[in-house]
Amino acid sequence: MGRKSSCCGATALEVTLAILFIAMTIVCATLIALMVTRTTHTDPEPTAPPPSPPPQNTPYLIGVGRADCTGPAADIPLMGYANTQQKAAGIHTRLYSRAFIIDDGTRRVVFVTADVGMISQRLRLEVLQALQEKYGDQYRQDNVVLSGTHTHCGPGGYFQYTLFMISSSGYIKASVQPLVNGIVKSIDRAHQNMRPGRIYRNRGELDHSSINRSPHSYMNNPEDERLRYKDNTDKQVLVLKFTDLDGDGIGMLSWFAVHAVSMNYTNRLVSSDNMGYASYLLEQDKNPGELPGQVRAFTCTCMSNTTCDEQTVSSACLCQTKMCAAFGPGDDMFESTRIIGQNIYMKAKELYATAVEEVTGSVQSAHQWVNMTDVSVPINSSHTVSTCKPALGHSFAAGTTDGGGDLNFTQGAVEGDPFWDGIAGALLGRPSNETKECHRPKPILFNTGEMNTPVPWHPQIVDVQILTVGSVAVVAVPGEMT
Ligand SMILES: *[C@@H]1O[C@H](CO)[C@@H](O)[C@H](O)[C@H]1NC(C)=O
Ligand SMILES: *[C@@H]1O[C@H](CO)[C@@H](O)[C@H](O)[C@H]1NC(C)=O
Ligand SMILES: *[C@@H]1O[C@H](CO)[C@@H](O)[C@H](O)[C@H]1NC(C)=O
Ligand SMILES: *[C@@H]1O[C@H](CO)[C@@H](O)[C@H](O)[C@H]1NC(C)=O
Ligand SMILES: *[C@@H]1O[C@H](CO)[C@@H](O)[C@H](O)[C@H]1NC(C)=O
Ligand SMILES: *[C@@H]1O[C@H](CO)[C@@H](O)[C@H](O)[C@H]1NC(C)=O
Repeated sequence: MGRKSSCCGATALEVTLAILFIAMTIVCATLIALMVTRTTHTDPEPTAPPPSPPPQNTPYLIGVGRADCTGPAADIPLMGYANTQQKAAGIHTRLYSRAFIIDDGTRRVVFVTADVGMISQRLRLEVLQALQEKYGDQYRQDNVVLSGTHTHCGPGGYFQYTLFMISSSGYIKASVQPLVNGIVKSIDRAHQNMRPGRIYRNRGELDHSSINRSPHSYMNNPEDERLRYKDNTDKQVLVLKFTDLDGDGIGMLSWFAVHAVSMNYTNRLVSSDNMGYASYLLEQDKNPGELPGQVRAFTCTCMSNTTCDEQTVSSACLCQTKMCAAFGPGDDMFESTRIIGQNIYMKAKELYATAVEEVTGSVQSAHQWVNMTDVSVPINSSHTVSTCKPALGHSFAAGTTDGGGDLNFTQGAVEGDPFWDGIAGALLGRPSNETKECHRPKPILFNTGEMNTPVPWHPQIVDVQILTVGSVAVVAVPGEMT
């Protein structure tokens, strides 16, 4: 669900989401309990005639649509590795936006996944404005979720905060327009082909296609928590299968937690990476030899396979951070993209073919703005703490196991480096005591939360959303889950 824009204060957000999630679970559990109770009450008497076939659930109205959103494939900086040298110079795969509209007869939700690094606030506002002009209040802030597959090889230049503008060389209209048009067009197509249909859910596990990007950090989780899981990564593939009333497939939505970084930071071809390739394979499979009327989409969240030695004591590479690039399992990045994409495709296809658990129930959506600099988080029965302004720390500069930073920073650092702090401070200003105290013990390198020239560097207010379709809940948050 890679809506990604802020790096800090995730704890508070996670707590908020956890609460939302628990609330949703309770609602779902209650609904299931109600349904079970009702079924029990209407059980036929022993003397009654044999039960007729189970009543059909009310169908949804479902629309699916896909549109190209590739944009210019030359000279635009690619978004993801924050590498200004990485400018587009050709196309590896085209980029698509895929839209799903689900309507229960009363309410409607739209879920869009686009082959981009992330959705920015700016991009979202432009898409919502275009939708408002076409559809009035039908598609709104609260019922439209936009997400990115998090490819690191899509165009940049669609951001409004300085931090993200630096690596993508400002705001690039030539890059934004095709993205907005592609996303809106995918929604138009889904809107035009809405028809009665059903949704089925299935899930399974996919091995050998992801690895923890920071195993050392993972080990800092409490043991009793780690014991609840058999792996240090989430290997679940979740599939939603959409059919018409004849049972013919019209689309699929699938989630698998892998970081779309099979293509590495040396790549200069626009690419939808492993996730986009998996979608492409399924679409080709279902629409042989033609442009898809049928839509497959994959949305992703977090991890990737890295070839760093899991035995190293720190997830920061010991000798040279650059040795920690994510690559594998292929001989080169094209081969790796193909293998990981193929694995996801095969698993999703299998789950799609065997999905029988029908999703039923009403459609709901909610949206909220959150001032991330001021969220209260109860940490125990007597203490409540508050989040504060964002900042980038020394550990940020260290990068992760699947992509180290350029300089000699290490993960988990709790002491600043006077040399770098001095340079950053002289150039960008030192953090206030309040912000320093709030981030302690993590030392601040870039005081982005207090920098406002020429425009604010880091968002303070972000939006969060939840969509529910029966017992399926999709939580949309602007962050990179890991
Ligand atoms: C990751 O890729 C390497 C090859 O580069 C492979 O040996 C390893 O088994 C893969 N790990 C997982 C968890 O799939
Ligand atoms: C990136 O991929 C290219 C081509 O597959 C490969 O030659 C290069 O070594 C890779 N770079 C890193 C840092 O993994
Ligand atoms: C967000 O919260 C901070 C701290 O309470 C406050 O100073 C700031 O004005 C708020 N931002 C907005 C835009 O309301
Ligand atoms: C709650 O957390 C605070 C701050 O970490 C700590 O000082 C206090 O002892 C904790 N109280 C309880 C009851 O755990
Ligand atoms: C990087 O940091 C490590 C540990 O602090 C140090 O031993 C090493 O010499 C540093 N390397 C460079 C190139 O500065
Ligand atoms: C910030 O803290 C330092 C050291 O604790 C102190 O010398 C300084 O006066 C403080 N600045 C402000 C503005 O309070």
